[in-house]
Amino acid sequence: MDRPLEWRAHRIHALDQTVLPFDVRHLAITSVTELVSAIRRLVIRGAPLLGAAGALGVALAAYQAEREGWSAERLDQEIGRIREARPTAVNLAGGVDAVRPFVAAGPAATEEAALAEVGRITAANREIGERGAHHLSGSGSGPLRIHTHCNTGALACVEWGTGLGIIRSLHERGRLDHVIVDETRPLLQGSRLTCWELAELGIEHRVVCDGAGPFVIAQGWADAVVVGADRIAANGDVVNKVGTYGLALAAHEAGLPFVVAAPESTIDVSVPTGAAIPIESRSGQEVTHLAGAPVAREGTQALNLAFDVTPARLVTAIVTERRVITADAPISAGTGTR
Ligand code: MRU
Repeated sequence: MDRPLEWRAHRIHALDQTVLPFDVRHLAITSVTELVSAIRRLVIRGAPLLGAAGALGVALAAYQAEREGWSAERLDQEIGRIREARPTAVNLAGGVDAVRPFVAAGPAATEEAALAEVGRITAANREIGERGAHHLSGSGSGPLRIHTHCNTGALACVEWGTGLGIIRSLHERGRLDHVIVDETRPLLQGSRLTCWELAELGIEHRVVCDGAGPFVIAQGWADAVVVGADRIAANGDVVNKVGTYGLALAAHEAGLPFVVAAPESTIDVSVPTGAAIPIESRSGQEVTHLAGAPVAREGTQALNLAFDVTPARLVTAIVTERRVITADAPISAGTGTR
């Protein structure tokens, strides 16, 4: 599979995730305006990938500033536009903030810092996968059946994946039976992207309608639910793609582990609870239309909240590259067990 994001000759090359899996197209992004548009349209998406785009975006802006003779103030404003392109995944702002201090040293130093940040993002994913697989398969039971939501694989993370990274690590260890994938309306990240990644990896899977997810869990099709996160509050509340909350309720009711996979950079201790995390509200057209064709009466109003909040009490474990966060080893403890 192609990497979803690459830095080549002062440009960002992005795999266009809006047209997958039917078309494989790449975009060469040469300006801040193009990058902001690509992020808003979900050409580039998924929390860790947004972090990488934020980091590389600062380098892109620095080179554009040099080319076009921007003032330092203008450059700062343009970097701010990248930071604000989407509101929920804290990784975007985190990627920008990690590289921004290097801007004063010039484009080459900024580029170097951005590539180092992308390297850190990539390394974290692999560690999350290993740690999560160890955590889930530690009981020594047979191959696991995992229910997942949205897309948390390499497409969302530069390489490997967070939630899907755990699934891949389980597969590598011979500890995976099959994966149930929610389709993830309205933009179908599950059926379009996750099923594509799983097929490429030769991992057995089935897609289900989002509305079926909780009942599929109740019917005993999974041993655990594994998802990613866009932002995690200080108290452990998890914001992720809308539909996650219903799966958490179902997992709780069924007595199944509900595991969240995310890098430490997704934890935002500046927000005390999930209630303080901004939830992106997207165009109603994404709900009233499917692949450009209307699926509701003309003029139907839609409420299109892109994410939801799963309360910490429904989360069994949050697996990061450094620790496993549980009720007994909360975020504030700073360390955890394997
Ligand atoms: O709107 P998207 O496609 O950017 O949303 C992505 C998700 O909600 C993912 O589950 C989340 O970013 C975790 S990605 C590893």
